Parts: sequence; C-alpha cells; structure tokens
Amino acid sequence: MPRFRDLHISTKFNIIMSLLLIVLFLAAAFMTYRRQQALILKVAVDNARSFARQIIETRDYMSSVVRGEPEKNYALVPQVVATRVAKRITSGSKYYVRQVSLRYRNPENRPDDYETAQLRIFASKDGGETYRVIKVRGQEAFRYMLPMVAEKSCLECHGDYDSAPPFVRALFPRGHFSFNYKLGEVIGAVSVTIPMADLYREIGTNLELELLYRAVIFFIIILIMGTLIRRTVINPVTLVSATITRVTRTGRFDERIPQKSNDELGQLVGTFNAMMEELEHKTLQQQESEERYRGMIEMAHSAIVTFLEDGKIVIANQEAERLFGLSRQDLLGEIIYGFLMDGSDVEKGIRKFLQEGHGGGVGETTFHHFQDRRGGTTSVEIALSASRAAQKTMFTAILREVSRS
Ligand code: HEC
Repeated sequence: MPRFRDLHISTKFNIIMSLLLIVLFLAAAFMTYRRQQALILKVAVDNARSFARQIIETRDYMSSVVRGEPEKNYALVPQVVATRVAKRITSGSKYYVRQVSLRYRNPENRPDDYETAQLRIFASKDGGETYRVIKVRGQEAFRYMLPMVAEKSCLECHGDYDSAPPFVRALFPRGHFSFNYKLGEVIGAVSVTIPMADLYREIGTNLELELLYRAVIFFIIILIMGTLIRRTVINPVTLVSATITRVTRTGRFDERIPQKSNDELGQLVGTFNAMMEELEHKTLQQQESEERYRGMIEMAHSAIVTFLEDGKIVIANQEAERLFGLSRQDLLGEIIYGFLMDGSDVEKGIRKFLQEGHGGGVGETTFHHFQDRRGGTTSVEIALSASRAAQKTMFTAILREVSRS
C-alpha cells in the first residue's frame, strides 16, 4: 500500500473528504440518538405521570365519597373503579397501568421484581415518582411508579379489621396483611410500563430515517464543497504539475496554461507562464548564439574542436573533419588525447588546470605531433582555451597545421 504522502492530491483530497463525511455523520448520529432518547423519555414520563395522577385522583375521589355502596356493588371499590378507569384511558395505547402493593388483596396486584424493589424503596423513605428504562428478557421497557400513601378515608377499609366494612371483613380474614395501615404509610403504587419499541412507534420517531436524511444532506454538502475545491484548487494545481512534468520531459518551453483566476493559484499560473516565456526566450537566445558560433568556426581556416574535461569532442568544424580524417558524426564523441602523440601530457595539463584554475597549457599556444586515423602525422600548433558553463568546464582547441609529413 502506498504511503499517504505519495498519493495523488486528488486521492488525498477524496480520503480526507470521506473521513470528514464519516466523522460528521457519526457525530450527527450520536447527537440525534441522544436527543431522541431524551425526547422519548420526556414523552414517556409525561404520559405515565398523567395516567398515574388520573388514577390516584379517581381513587381518592371514590374513597372520599363511597358510603357503603361497595357493600352491594364490588365494582365501586375505589381500587376497582380506578383500575377500570385506567384500563379505559390507556386502551388503544401500549401503556400498561396497574396498581400494586406489597400487601395485596387481589393477587392480580402482586408486584413484579422491579415493582417490589421500588415499593421497598418507597416504604423506607419518602419520595415521589421514579422512572427508568430496564431490560426484561432482552426487551427494553420504560417503567414509571408513583407511590400512594394511606389517607384517612383509606383506613376505613385498610386500617383496623374491626372497623372495616362487613364485605371487606368477609373477603379478607382477620390478620390479613392488607389491614393495619397507618396514616401516611405507603400503601402501594401506580405502576406504568411501556416497551421502548412501542414508545418509538407511538412517538413516530424513526432514527434510521432521520439518519438517512442527515447522511444525504452531508453527502450533498461534501459533494458541492468537493466540486468547488476541486475546481478552484486541485484542478489548477494538477494542471500546473502535469505541465511542468511534460515540459521537463519534452524540453519544449512553448507551453502556456490559461490563467482563469486572479487568486494565488491564478498568480502561480501567471508566474509559471512568465517563467516559460523567459525560458523560451533564453533557449532561443542560446540556440541562436550556438548557431552563430558554429557558423563562425565553420568559416575558420583552422580545425576547431570543443571537448569536455575527459577529452570527449562535442563540437567540431569542417576543417577538423579534414584534419582528423573522420566525418563529423564519427568525430563527435572521440577523445582528443588519442590523436596527439603526447596526449597523456595534454590530459595531465587539463587536470592540473581543473585543480588549480590556471596553467596546464590553457591560454597558451603549444606544439604537438598530431596523428590522424589514417596513420598520417602532422605537426600542429594548438591554441587552447577554457570556458565554464553550468559547473562544467569546456575546452576549445584551435589546431593549425605547421607541416605535414
Ligand atoms: C371501600 C373500601 C376501600 C377503601 C375506602 C379503599 N380501599 Fe383500597 N382496596 C379495597 C379492596 C376491596 C381492594 C381489593 C380490590 C381488588 O379486588 O382488586 C383494595 C385494593 C387496594 C390496592 C391494590 C392492592 C391490593 O390490595 O390488591 C391499593 C394500592 C389500595 N387499595 C389502596 C387504597 C388507597 C390508597 C385508598 C385511599 C385513597 C384505598 N385503597 C381506599 C378497599 C378499599
């Protein structure tokens, strides 16, 4: 896998944008989830509280007005009325409302584990409603409980056995644990339950759908941003970089990039174009001066060769072709030292000049025996000069035949 810094700028950009998208989405998902949870809990508590209140009010009212009616009609027992009313109120919803007590009369009002624990807490200390989301058999459920305390009217049937109405005494024998409550004692609680899944459905929130909307919106934003950045930054940079690469390869300086903006990138393009202009100009000048130099040496009556430090001939004129007995093509690339009887001395002189910057026969005219490829030898007078260009020293030798033997 390539390292990040080796990737193309557009790939990097795509990676960064994707990461941004994911991070944004996760953050939004987290926040949406939290907000939904809070909202759902609030709705659940509000509903549960109002159900519980209605039940307690119903019971309190019934308890304060009944005067022996339950004796003939059990359906008028405050608890029974409250239970029926609760059933009617909650019908059609998934809320499940009961009234429970640790010392129950009706086995249907026996508390479950959670309710038992809460009732114990209510009994041990004063407190109001409690609510919590608990997990029962893998299912999350919202549980709400509101304690009920014994008032004076309640004690008529829940106080002393002896003062209780006959129907109560008939149903629940002396010593039954549902008697002997004291004023203010917790007698039971209203318990409201709703499975969380039903709660979500009831409130009509849908986390998945909401997240999908978010994802789509983020995606569109990032797409637009990405396109803008791509057009204003990445494409121009890529274009400049590709052009520079091409110019380096072809050596053609006539390339120009259209400048489309006036920002920093536009300026970069402008600078690039100016640089290309300059380079093109310089190259032309150089080509022209080279041309002129060639033309000039062609006119000379002596052989002229230009060679590098290692003696390799890079420029030669027509006279040189004749003197060396080689076509120009063959001559270029030959080592000049090989054509001189004292070639190794000349080479040493060149090296000395390179080291010390002077001497070694450079700038002087010296005599040598020249040996061409056909085996002929000639005495030549060599005028040697040096020139420096781009860290490289080049040498030009003008060879004038003194006599041919
Ligand atoms: C007229 C008699 C009477 C009065 C007054 C009365 N209750 Fe009851 N209560 C009963 C009877 C009977 C039951 C059993 C009902 C059943 O079979 O579901 C009961 C049941 C309950 C229960 C359910 C637990 C259980 O024992 O099954 C609670 C809680 C309760 N009463 C609290 C109260 C409170 C609080 C008051 C006062 C506001 C009150 N009651 C007033 C007769 C009465």
